[in-house]
Amino acid sequence: MPHIATLTLNPAIDVSTSTPRVEPERKLRCGPGRRDPGGGGINVARVVRRLGADSTAIYTIGGFVGRLLESLVNAEGVTSMAIPVRGETREDFTVYDEAADTQFRFVLPGPELEADEWTACLDAVRALGRWPDLFCASGSLPPGAPEDAYARIAAIVAGRGVRFALDASGPALKHALDAGVDLVKPNLREMRELTGLGLEDQASRLAACRQLIGRGAARMVALSLGSEGAMLVTADDAWQAAALDIHAVSTVGAGDSFLGAMVWALASGLPPSEAFRYGVAGGSATVLESGTALLAPEDVSRMLADVVIAAIPA
Ligand SMILES: Nc1ncnc2c1ncn2[C@@H]1O[C@H](COP(=O)(O)OP(=O)(O)OP(=O)(O)O)[C@@H](O)[C@H]1O
Ligand SMILES: [Mg+2]
Repeated sequence: MPHIATLTLNPAIDVSTSTPRVEPERKLRCGPGRRDPGGGGINVARVVRRLGADSTAIYTIGGFVGRLLESLVNAEGVTSMAIPVRGETREDFTVYDEAADTQFRFVLPGPELEADEWTACLDAVRALGRWPDLFCASGSLPPGAPEDAYARIAAIVAGRGVRFALDASGPALKHALDAGVDLVKPNLREMRELTGLGLEDQASRLAACRQLIGRGAARMVALSLGSEGAMLVTADDAWQAAALDIHAVSTVGAGDSFLGAMVWALASGLPPSEAFRYGVAGGSATVLESGTALLAPEDVSRMLADVVIAAIPA
């Protein structure tokens, strides 16, 4: 069975609920709340586990919320390597406004990561007992983490000969790409921010992905385009996939699910274009779920055949 490890330096518990209408001042009576473990790497580990592989999630935990997070992660069959920190793990809050059919997402910064805690994170990665087939780091950095955090993790992972996948943004993404990764999954906004380009059409997007590969920043670039689908570029090939024609219930976690399904497929030995098919099916399957809920594996299986992967001519 393939084994994937993930790293989440700024995890969260996602609390989600709904209310008839969001309005100022008055008390907003909400429906029942649900709590999901959250943070990029934790979500990737959950998706990988649902698709049937072994997953280990390395993440920080602080206080009562941290302990609750660990129990929620364990309940999904993901193996936890939880690193204690002094600050309290954050809780993010998503409210669905029924009248407007829209979601409000409130995201907290997360606790400060202190120097010794950061060292403990590096040690935890080095101490992985069983090295995975693929290592995935995902999500924002907490306050206090060095900007080159993912670059340093990438170096440790590469030193073990393990493939490294990354989903990050801003300076953390930039530093890691300077070090070089195997797979990177920016969305269009992150790619625009990284390159400083408008990237309005397929040709410019393809050129931007190729430029990353050409300078050794990544071996594979999966550029996810939300309701426009996605693009996958390797040194020799490029493919595009339109989004599936589905009713989008909630796009929360679509990117994590895309990456989770794609790394599951890569770790299972599928070639890049097939892994890309899994990525699109995985992202789409999560879009069918309300609030912060992630994909159902049977939806991924069902949708795989509907994903049309088209080679982009050189
Ligand atoms: N509205 C939508 N309709 C159909 N498919 C969608 C929609 N939104 C996302 N997807 C699917 O999910 C994939 C990943 O979504 P997206 O590009 O929005 O990731 P992201 O911006 O990283 O998301 P996140 O908010 O989780 O970080 C897309 O490539 C697409 O296949
Ligand atoms: Mg994303």
